[in-house]
Amino acid sequence: MTDLDAHQGAGIAEQTERRWATIAVILMIVLTSMAAFAGIRQATMPQPRVETIDPTRLHLSGEFVESNLGTAVEPDGAVVVRAIGQQYSFSPSCILVPAQTPITLRATSADVVHGIIIQGTNINTMLVPGYVTDQLMRFERTGDYLMPCQEFCSFGHEGMWGKVKVIDKAEFASRAGNGGRVSCVGQ
Ligand code: CUA
Repeated sequence: MTDLDAHQGAGIAEQTERRWATIAVILMIVLTSMAAFAGIRQATMPQPRVETIDPTRLHLSGEFVESNLGTAVEPDGAVVVRAIGQQYSFSPSCILVPAQTPITLRATSADVVHGIIIQGTNINTMLVPGYVTDQLMRFERTGDYLMPCQEFCSFGHEGMWGKVKVIDKAEFASRAGNGGRVSCVGQ
């Protein structure tokens, strides 16, 4: 290899390197701009619907008083579950719902951020103090579904478990017939 060849080779290498460096820089600029745009947009746009609630007064009045927790069939026939997460349990700890029915879960936290994940389903949501979580769910099959807290909420987190009991639609209807709350008790 002559000196001239070596010189030429180095030149080509440098050119190629510079081209790839340029592509990498452009890519970084594009990705950074996309992230910045998405972040700014999310921070400046209002959420489609936000419901706030005073977490220190849940037990005193309003939708989440103890007697109003659990599964209810609303006057319009909608099935609504109301629940609270607190260190380190869910109230109620067992939720009874009908199969093959659209269900609305309304939940909040009395203290810190908790999470609800229902095993074997795609239901995965957060309970944030001060806000009401409104989540649609539907269970095709009857059975027991475990519902662990999925957000680290301090030292008792691992022990924070709930359960969803899905029963036959007709059976649920007969139990809910007299109105009021439907619970796992007696199941
Ligand atoms: Cu509640 Cu983790």
